[in-house]
Amino acid sequence: MDSTKQTGNPIAPTAPIAPLSPSAPLPPPGRDAFAMPQTWNPDRYIANARFVAELGMGVVELLAPVAGERILDVGCGDGFLTAKLAAMGCKVMGIDASSAQVDAARKSGLDARVVDAETMAFTEDFDAVFSNATLHWMRKPDAAIDGVWRALKPGGRFVGECGGAGCVAEIRAALGRALAKRGQDFDALNPWYFATAEEYGAKLAARGFKVESILVFPRPTPLPGEMRAWLETFAENFMKGIRPEERAAFLTEVQEDLRPVLCDAEGQWSADYTRLRFRAVKP
Ligand code: BEZ
Repeated sequence: MDSTKQTGNPIAPTAPIAPLSPSAPLPPPGRDAFAMPQTWNPDRYIANARFVAELGMGVVELLAPVAGERILDVGCGDGFLTAKLAAMGCKVMGIDASSAQVDAARKSGLDARVVDAETMAFTEDFDAVFSNATLHWMRKPDAAIDGVWRALKPGGRFVGECGGAGCVAEIRAALGRALAKRGQDFDALNPWYFATAEEYGAKLAARGFKVESILVFPRPTPLPGEMRAWLETFAENFMKGIRPEERAAFLTEVQEDLRPVLCDAEGQWSADYTRLRFRAVKP
């Protein structure tokens, strides 16, 4: 079956955040707070987030790709792991909600498309669906699991890794404190879904998957720069609660709040990641 007939919705470009005058009251985030929780700048991603893909080789091993297999890489980003799968002889298609990241992946010669995983509409095209560091951005996890189910041939496998329960708990707490001081609600701006193994396993099983393995494990992760660079790269949605001219001070405050717990005596920052990792089969 030809996977080019995917009919999912292309992603609309991010609406620019309107500048506010210092005296204007900050509007509540409202329903649009999740319209596009994050923009991805490929250069910023390489500088501050390359480790995310580099640390994904463990889940590639769990996938155990076989040359010739058709694999869908959900949340391919700039194609770092997609290229590894292609180099192993797989026929890989990458999808990502970010057109900038998809452009970067295409420049590497990969088959990459702008598709939202929550609305993707592939049908029984793939031997395996693979995903690294993406599923925690899915605020509608059941919709994403449905799309994966439809995309897989019978007997196909879904192998993924993402942030799990407890992921970046210290960072979330510090963001919550700084937002609360400014009258903003963390939950109203939180773009992340960090499931327990039980919760995500139940969702997979409810869709019909046979869950072969699923676990959450801690993976404290050294960062290539300061905490504020991580926040700028990954925590963009929370900035919707902060006036543009106050964002630098907000980031400094969150970083200094976290320094005692996430920065060592040598100045090395880390993020308190956990990972949810699973392998499931469509019978
Ligand atoms: C990640 O890419 O793994 C990640 C992103 C945001 C929060 C936590 C984890």
